[in-house]
Amino acid sequence: MHAVGIVAAAGSGLRLGADRPKALVGLGGRALVRWAVDTLHEGGVADVVVAVPANDLAAFAAVLPADARLVVGGATRTASVRAALAAVTLPARPAPDAVLVHDAARPLTPPDVVARVLTALADGAPAVVPVLPVVDTTVVVDGDGVVVDAVPRGRLRRVQTPQGFSRAVLADAYDRLPADAELTDDAAVVRAAGVPVTTVPGDERAAKVTVAHDLALAELQVAR
Ligand code: CTP
Ligand code: MG
Repeated sequence: MHAVGIVAAAGSGLRLGADRPKALVGLGGRALVRWAVDTLHEGGVADVVVAVPANDLAAFAAVLPADARLVVGGATRTASVRAALAAVTLPARPAPDAVLVHDAARPLTPPDVVARVLTALADGAPAVVPVLPVVDTTVVVDGDGVVVDAVPRGRLRRVQTPQGFSRAVLADAYDRLPADAELTDDAAVVRAAGVPVTTVPGDERAAKVTVAHDLALAELQVAR
């Protein structure tokens, strides 16, 4: 099975509030985007396309391996993945069987997670996501913040990346998606096309770096 990786790295990182795009922020001396590309490589995905902000192509090229292919991302994550997906198949080359879409913002994802996703795809799943259980009591509040309901959490899951897809299934789902649609992940794109999404165990270390506290926690992990 030939799988190509996509790293969504074209966000600005407003909530992190750094002096550069979030994916270029350093963690243990390596840019977040480099961690994400290295995880895909170590997990068995050699060929990687990275969606980057239009104004920062050179800065991204400087921190990435020479064989990573860079494309200009879009205004939303959905648009960025759509742009990268268009670059996944090279002219005069056979189309890959599978695509794994990973967030640059999940730098410490262990390569084992990549391997589990690849195994599920090889076993025939058209779409697979790594997930973790919800451990906190989870409630619904009204507009005033008053609890109106408790949600049984036994079947709730938190969804991580990399998410894996049959390339043809993902490309078809993006083709069907309205041009301005904005979904928070790629599993939602294929689900909108009626594709079943299966799950494999995720990993707490695949946590997303969103705010400064998350980066501080990640720094503690790499310092050990
Ligand atoms: N992303 C992207 N293109 C966008 C927006 C986001 O490729 N237009 C990527 C980010 O680079 C990140 C991932 O999608 O790796 C998850 O998004 P998020 O954590 O929200 O990152 P940002 O959008 O950069 O952060 P913020 O929402 O705080 O601005
Ligand atoms: Mg965002």
